Amino acid sequence: MAVDRLPLIAGNWKMNLDHLQAIAFTQKLAWTLRDARHDYASTEVALFPPFTDLRSIQNLIEGDKFDLAYGGQDLSAHDAGAYTGEVSGGFLRSLGSTYVLVGHSERRQYHGETDDMVRAKVSAALRNDLTPIICVGETEADLAQYGPSAVPVTQLSAALNGVSPAEIVIAYEPVWAIGTGKAASEEQAQQVSAALRATVTEVWGLDSGDATRILYGGSVRASNISALMRQPDVDGALVGGASLDVTEFSSICRFLKHVV
Ligand code: 13P
Repeated sequence: MAVDRLPLIAGNWKMNLDHLQAIAFTQKLAWTLRDARHDYASTEVALFPPFTDLRSIQNLIEGDKFDLAYGGQDLSAHDAGAYTGEVSGGFLRSLGSTYVLVGHSERRQYHGETDDMVRAKVSAALRNDLTPIICVGETEADLAQYGPSAVPVTQLSAALNGVSPAEIVIAYEPVWAIGTGKAASEEQAQQVSAALRATVTEVWGLDSGDATRILYGGSVRASNISALMRQPDVDGALVGGASLDVTEFSSICRFLKHVV
C-alpha cells in the first residue's frame, strides 16, 4: 500500500442478497463503520450488489448520506438498444454508481467473456463516466504452466489495448483462490501486483502506473488483510464471501487499525 493511493475495500456480493436484504445489510454496515469511527478519507469502501438492488442502495446511501460507494458487477459493451437482458453503463451511472466490475473470472468462466469483450466493456464503462475495476487472474492450471504473473498480465494488456489513459482499478484475483479459503500468499499478491503496475506503466506511462490502484481478491478475510495491505503494490481488496458478513467485512475495511 502506497501512501498516495487511497486504499479501496470492495465487496462483491455476487448473486446474494435481494433488495430488502441489501437495505438491511448496508444500513448495518454503515452504522457499524460509523460506531467504529471509520475514516472514509483513509480507506474507501465500495459495494457491488446485484443490479436489482442498486436503486434501493442509492436511495439509502443518498438519503442517509452514507459515504459508501457502489457499482454494478458487470455492464453491457453497448450503450442502448436491442440487447435483451443487458444493462448499460449509462443506466448504472444514472443510479449513482462510481465503479463497475469488468471481466470477473465468473463472467469469463460461465458467460464466455473473452479478452475482446472485456476490452469493449472497459471502453463502455469509461464512455459512461464509470471507473472500471478490471479483474484478471490465473487458474490453477495456468499457475502450474506459466507461473502467477503471465496470464494476469496478458489479460490486462488485452483489456487496455487501444484504450486511452484513464482512471481504472485493477483486481488481481487468482481463480484458484476464489471461494476456496486458500488466499494467495502476500508475496505472490505483491509479485503479480507489481507486474500489473509495470504493465500499466508500459502502456500508459509512469503517472498512470503510479496512480492506478491494484486490489487483491480471493479468500480475503479480516485475518489476512493486514499482511496483504503491507505490500507496496497492493492497494486494497475485492472481497467475495466475507463481504456478506457485516462484522468480518467492517473489520476488513478497518485494516488500518491492524496495519502498522
Ligand atoms: P471470495 O472472497 O469469496 O474468495 O471471492 C473473491 C471474489 O471473487 C471477489 O470478486
